[in-house]
Amino acid sequence: MQRRKFLKSAAASAAAAMVFGKGAALAAEADSHIEILLNEPIGTIAPEIYGHFTEHLGSVIYDGIYVGEGSKIPNQHGLRSALLEKMRAIKAPMVRWPGGCFADSYDWRDGIGPKDKRPRRTNFWTDNFTVEQRKQNLPQIYESNDFGTDDFVRFCQLSGAEPYIAGNVRSLTPLDFDHWVEYCNSPKGTTTLAETRAAAGSPEPYNVRYWGVGNESWGCGGNFDPEEYATEFKRYTTWVPSYGVPLRFVASGPNSDEQAWTRGFFNKLLHGQPSHDMRGVWGLSVHHYAWNLGRGKSNDWDAAKGDALKFDPIDWYELCRETDRVENVILDHWTALGEFDLDHKVKLVVDEYGPWYKPGTENSPEQILGQQITVRDAVMTGLSLDIFNRNADKVGMAACAQLVNCLNSLFLTHGDQFVTTPVFNVFELYAAHQGGTALRTEFSSPEAKWDRDGKPAGFAGLKGSASLKGKTLTVTAVNADVAQPREAFIALRGAAAASAKAFVVGASDIHAHNSLGQPEQVKTRSAEVALRPGGLSFTFPAASVVKIEVALA
Ligand code: AHR
Repeated sequence: MQRRKFLKSAAASAAAAMVFGKGAALAAEADSHIEILLNEPIGTIAPEIYGHFTEHLGSVIYDGIYVGEGSKIPNQHGLRSALLEKMRAIKAPMVRWPGGCFADSYDWRDGIGPKDKRPRRTNFWTDNFTVEQRKQNLPQIYESNDFGTDDFVRFCQLSGAEPYIAGNVRSLTPLDFDHWVEYCNSPKGTTTLAETRAAAGSPEPYNVRYWGVGNESWGCGGNFDPEEYATEFKRYTTWVPSYGVPLRFVASGPNSDEQAWTRGFFNKLLHGQPSHDMRGVWGLSVHHYAWNLGRGKSNDWDAAKGDALKFDPIDWYELCRETDRVENVILDHWTALGEFDLDHKVKLVVDEYGPWYKPGTENSPEQILGQQITVRDAVMTGLSLDIFNRNADKVGMAACAQLVNCLNSLFLTHGDQFVTTPVFNVFELYAAHQGGTALRTEFSSPEAKWDRDGKPAGFAGLKGSASLKGKTLTVTAVNADVAQPREAFIALRGAAAASAKAFVVGASDIHAHNSLGQPEQVKTRSAEVALRPGGLSFTFPAASVVKIEVALA
């Protein structure tokens, strides 16, 4: 601890030159310092931290993922081929479906069996359309049920991901939940539902492990209070047949930092007693979106949010702070969990996160909650993923909201047009962390500064994380400063580098984004890293996300 404080002080850096020799002299020249403590492992980074969220909302499923088997758009079983290829490229480990709020209005039976016999229903999000738009009868307005459980599991299989299904607690029964598990997991040739699945082309069970027990049960998932929800949780999860699959139930958790939910839920579930038996809870879901509400001038919720494309540096920094808050949210809920979970077995599942802007930049009216994705969103995503890495002992899964044509999307589509966004580039870079051992890191750099309603405000210039896999060290970081590059000395404590290279996501304009018409405005480029005695040096460009891949000697 002493040493870390010591390195954080610029004056002390000069003194370090005398102690550590040439490497420390270089450290003294740099304006920023990063320490990678190779002998201080935090835990294994669950690949599922790099998961995704897909909901029957606007054009996430229809048009985004599913184009239909008869489509001229290249597809496999109706699933957009270009998207599948990119999912494999980022090693997508997990996908959550069918919502979101939609989940608690969804009857899974509507989405199985012959497609031409499936019912058309009112989609949860229908009210987001005008009356005129509703008359068009798009699948995005009314739910066609063309895409159901078999399609979702196939999407996961072809993407290389594991399915995570959110059950309906608000409007279906525990028996319906049991039957959905049975449809997915009962062995070939056993139950009637296994035969129904076989008739859809899948005699072998899907072996779905991850099951969400409702979604946002404090809000659209039923307006429960935490004690009521604890009772529901028991009804839905007790004695669900497992068919030999170790089921991992994710309890619907708090909105952002509402610790009263976490405490109320576990207090009721465990009858007020801390326990070694967490009554079937594998994970606790946490949702944290980042808004620019602080600067909004309207009482209207949508109008008060910031714009995806029109923003200034202050909007940028304020959003950095909002995004960064998730680290305290994680720590606070972890502390609350610790009051009940004597072995800290329950993992936090941040299964919805990302910036959320006001409507207006979506590619077409049916893309509800659709927004353009700029360099700013790449930086916010890097910030979030580094936080999850740094808390690898606490976060068991996470899902970026949402995969395509929606909030913090990796992909935008419209008909045969398909483009990857800067958020995709970040997932591509950070895939190297999956399954690695997260290492303790210390980042120190001058703050980006701005004026917050007449008061000075600041945000750390550099933030990041590191992980180790065999002899490969992966360091990722964001430079949140929109104007200042940061020249950093990266001290490797406990190992030496044989070689290193860097990959940078960024652009000269912080508003740069890949639109359907201009798909290559933001790219990943490689950069040189200098090997120094005791570590590395690298200049992090302003407003960028960087990965440094180090081969250890
Ligand atoms: O991602 C959009 C919505 O945000 C989800 O449906 C809901 O869970 C959350 O409030």
